[in-house]
Amino acid sequence: MQQFEAFLTSHLPTAPSFHPHYECALQEMLLAGGKRFRPMLLLGVVRAGNTLLLEAACHAAYAIELLHTYSLIHDDLPAMDDADLRRGHPTLHKVYDEVTAILVGDALNTYAFEVLAKAPFSDAVRIRLIRCLAENGGHAGMVLGQAIDCHFENTPLELEQIRTLHINKTGKLIAAALKMGAIIAGRSDLEAPIYDFGIRLGLLFQIQDDILDVTQSSEEAGKTTQNDEAKNSFVTILGFDAAMQQADDLAATLTEQIKSFDENLQRELSPTLLKYINRHKNTN
Ligand code: IPE
Ligand code: IPE
Ligand code: MG
Ligand code: MG
Ligand code: MG
Repeated sequence: MQQFEAFLTSHLPTAPSFHPHYECALQEMLLAGGKRFRPMLLLGVVRAGNTLLLEAACHAAYAIELLHTYSLIHDDLPAMDDADLRRGHPTLHKVYDEVTAILVGDALNTYAFEVLAKAPFSDAVRIRLIRCLAENGGHAGMVLGQAIDCHFENTPLELEQIRTLHINKTGKLIAAALKMGAIIAGRSDLEAPIYDFGIRLGLLFQIQDDILDVTQSSEEAGKTTQNDEAKNSFVTILGFDAAMQQADDLAATLTEQIKSFDENLQRELSPTLLKYINRHKNTN
């Protein structure tokens, strides 16, 4: 991931002007770190296919991380989850103001597509990557999930509806990361199965996130926790034990499904997957 971090720091959004803090705010949440889970997945798929493509793939991994970071900045706004801490830092609307946080989110969202549009791929690959990120991160993907998540606060949904919510708000971007890796690697045979795997992985990732919201302190998580009481999370709807059981079941299914991937892919994805597939178990 060193290569990715170096790429990120050399491609930070810049906008020098007489604005006292806009440029600093643009960069702050990107530099604050985070797990870089989606970039790791994308780069793992590319590494399994052809390591010579890794430098170019950093453009796409960065584009996903930009869109994801924008989603977090907006997610923390008072109108959404109203959270004060993110990636170990006070949220942008706390450090500056809501206007800054809204506009930085807007800027990172569009910058993601600028980065992809300038990425060194063939026109055909570039367009497929842009399309994949837009379809999964936009109005019928992550944004839809966030809309459902916020609209139905304090209104319990059916379990199947919560799955749909989680798949949209979190699963699709994680699935897109894996699929974009397959597009870059030229593995068209892998696109559908790996996307499917990613949806399930993303669902697990969000159930775990809901579990961590109750088991971790804000300090441990680096973000505001104990913040999901009004939400349709697996924990609030099913209870803690049943949510853990769902996570265990999904983790077991995914561990089996990994075995259907070719050797290279298993080797490159396993470190990331093993670290995250069972993360709900290391919380007490
Ligand atoms: C947090 O995502 C929001 C969810 C989709 C659960 P991450 O847990 O990947 O956040 P960072 O990138 O590590 O900060
Ligand atoms: C947010 O889910 C998912 C996004 C699309 C940003 P959460 O609201 O549970 O994420 P955290 O817990 O604040 O990171
Ligand atoms: Mg939220
Ligand atoms: Mg939140
Ligand atoms: Mg959460």
